[in-house]
Amino acid sequence: MKKIHLIQLFFLLIALVHVNAFANDGHDLWLRPVKANPVKVVASSKSAQVIIATKELQQGWTGQSGATIKLSLVKDTAIKGDGFRLTQNSVEARTEIGVLYGVYEMLRRQQTGQSYSSIVSNPSYNLRILNHWDNLNASIERGYAGESIFWRKGDNAFAVTEADKVLWQQYARANASIGINSAVLNNVNASPQMLSTQYLQRVKAIADVLRPYGIKTYLSINFATPIKLGNLPTADPLDKGVIKWWEAKANEIYKLIPDFGGFLVKANSEGQPGPQDYKRTHADGANMLADILKKHKGIVMWRAFVYNASEKDRAKQAYAEFMPFDGKFSDNVIIQVKNGPIDFQPREPFSPLFGAMKKTPVMAEVQITQEYLGHSNQLAYLATMWEEFLKSDTWQEGKNSTVARVTDGSIFLQKYSAIAGVANIGLDANWCGHDFAQANWYAFGRLAWSNNMTSEAIANEWLKLTFLPSDGTTANGWDENFLKPVQQMMLDSREAVVNYSMPLGLHHIFSAHEHYGPGPWYAPAGVRKDWTPPYYHQADAKGIGFDRTSTGSNAVSQYHEPLASEFAFVSSCPEKYILYFHHLPWDHKLKSGRILWDELCYRYQDGLDEVRKFQKIWDKAEPYVDTQRFTAVQSKLQRQCRDAQFYKDGCLLYFQQFSKRPIPFDVERPVNSLEYYEKTDPLTMKEVIKH
Ligand code: GCU
Repeated sequence: MKKIHLIQLFFLLIALVHVNAFANDGHDLWLRPVKANPVKVVASSKSAQVIIATKELQQGWTGQSGATIKLSLVKDTAIKGDGFRLTQNSVEARTEIGVLYGVYEMLRRQQTGQSYSSIVSNPSYNLRILNHWDNLNASIERGYAGESIFWRKGDNAFAVTEADKVLWQQYARANASIGINSAVLNNVNASPQMLSTQYLQRVKAIADVLRPYGIKTYLSINFATPIKLGNLPTADPLDKGVIKWWEAKANEIYKLIPDFGGFLVKANSEGQPGPQDYKRTHADGANMLADILKKHKGIVMWRAFVYNASEKDRAKQAYAEFMPFDGKFSDNVIIQVKNGPIDFQPREPFSPLFGAMKKTPVMAEVQITQEYLGHSNQLAYLATMWEEFLKSDTWQEGKNSTVARVTDGSIFLQKYSAIAGVANIGLDANWCGHDFAQANWYAFGRLAWSNNMTSEAIANEWLKLTFLPSDGTTANGWDENFLKPVQQMMLDSREAVVNYSMPLGLHHIFSAHEHYGPGPWYAPAGVRKDWTPPYYHQADAKGIGFDRTSTGSNAVSQYHEPLASEFAFVSSCPEKYILYFHHLPWDHKLKSGRILWDELCYRYQDGLDEVRKFQKIWDKAEPYVDTQRFTAVQSKLQRQCRDAQFYKDGCLLYFQQFSKRPIPFDVERPVNSLEYYEKTDPLTMKEVIKH
C-alpha cells in the first residue's frame, strides 16, 4: 500500500514539473528569465540606474561567457537626451538612465539575434508617457485587465504593502526596458480627491518605486478641485484665491515628490469642469497651472479632446477650438491631441491639429487599451495603426511633414516633445487581459523611443522575446512554423478588425454599451445625437457616409493642401477613408469594380474570414507555445470569430434596410435575424431592451 503511494507521488511530481514547465501566466511579459552566462560589469557610477543596469546584465547576459562590459557616462554629441551608444563591450550614455536603456537594448539584441557592434540610438520624444485611466476606487475606465495596480478600495486603500511595491517595481522595469519614462497615475476624468494629502502620500510611495527606473510621476487633475477639495467658491483661473490654492497644492506635491512631472488636464470636455465655466479660455486655464508648475520644472499637458452636442460635425471641433490659441500658451504647456479627430476608432484620418499648431508643442495621444477594438477579447496588434498614423503626411511644412516629424521636434523648435498612450494594464496576471495585448504596450514604448520603427520589426522582436523557447533554440522549425505565420497574423489583425467592424471609412457605429460590437441602429430619443451611430454613418435610401466636403461639414478644409483636395474629391480620396469624408450612393463604383453595397458586404466577409484564418494559424502554433497561453489565446480567438460574425451580420442586415440590395451570393448568409442582433448585447450575448 505504502509503495503504491510513493509511486503515485512520484508520478504526481513528474506531472507537476511538466505542467509547470509548460505553464506561463504571461506575467514576465517580454522579460522572461534566461539562462545567463557569466559577465563582468565595470561601471564608473554607483547611481540607482547603474546598479539596476549591472544587475540586468548579470541576470540576462546571453553573450560570450566571461565577457567584460563597461558602462560609462560620456559627453558625446552624437548621443542626444537619454540616448546611448553600444559597442560589443560597452554602453555609453550622457545620463544614468541612458545607460540603463542601453543595457536593455543590448540584452534585447542578444536575445533576438541582432548585432550591436556599433549603434547609436536616441529617443524620438523626450517624454514617453503612459496615461492610466485608473479611478481611485480601483476601477479602470476602459480597462479590460482587472483592477488598478495603483489604487485600492476598502479599508486598507492607503496601506502600501510589500506586494504593491513588488508589482510597481515590475511595472517600472517593464516600462524602462522599452524606454517609457513617464506615467500619469489616474483617470483624465479625475476625482478632486486625487490631490488630497492622503492620496498624495500614496503617490509619493509609487513615485519612490518608479524613480530608480527613470519614470516620472504625473497626475490628472479635476479643474474644480479648489472648490471640491479646497472649499473655495470658485475655480476661476484668474481668481487670486484660486491661484494661491494651486500654488500651495503644488508646493505640497513637490515637497513630497521633488521630481513630480506635472498635470494632465481634461477640461470642458464631456461634462468635466474647466476655464470656460468662468468665461475664460483654454489658454487662461492651462497657463495659470503652467506658471505655477514652472518654478518646480513641471509641465501641463492640456487635452484638446473637446466636442459639443450642438455642433454639426464633432470631427471639426478640436481644431476650431484650439487653433485660435496657437502661440498663446506658456512654454511648459503641451497640447495633447488624440490621433484622430473623433475618438480612437479602428481607423480614422489623423487629427488636422497635427502640424497646424506651429507655435505650440502638440503631442499625440494614442489608445493602447482596446476600447473600440474588441477590449481584451480580440487580437488587434495596434502598431500597424500607429505606424500609419505617425507616417501620415500633414503637408503643413511641405512634403514629408509627417505626424512623427511635426511632433518630435524635427520640424518645429519644441522645448518639449512627447507622446502618450492610454494604458491597457491592470491586475490580471498577464497585465493586459489578452496575451497579445502585451504587444501593444511593448509597441507603444518602442515607437515612442523610435517613431520610425516598423510595426513588423516590433512584432518580430516581441514574439521572440515573449515566445522563443527559453534555451533560445529555434530548432523544430520555430521560425517557419511559429514566428513567420504568427507575425503575419499580428500584422494583419488590425485591418481584420477594421473590415469586420467598420470598413471603408465607417466610424463610431458601436453598440452604446461599452463600445463593444455593432450598434448602427442605436438612436434612442433624448440621447445626444453625436453619441449615436446614425450621426456618423448617415445611412439612408440614397447611400451611406458622412459628407465632410464643402457640400457637407467641410471638415476637409481643416487639412493642408494637397490633402484637403485629395480628401474632398471622391476620385482621389483613399478608399480606406471614403465614407469618413463622403456620402456615397449605394451603387457608386469603387476601384474593385464593385458597387459600394457589394464592396461593403465583401469587406465584412473578409474581416470574418481573416479571423477564421487566425484561428487556424494559432492552432498550428500549438507545439511551440506553453499550454496556458496557447489555450487562453485559442479561446479568445473563438470569441473574436463569434464577434466578427455578429458585426458582419448585424451591420449588413441593418444597412440592407436602406440599400435594398441583396447580399452577394458568395458572402455568407447571416445566421440570425436583424431583430436578434438589435436586441442582443454583443458583449454579454444577453438580451437587452430594444431602443
Ligand atoms: C472616450 C472614452 C471615455 C474617455 C474619453 C476621453 O470618449 O469613451 O471613456 O473619458 O474618451 O478620452 O476623455
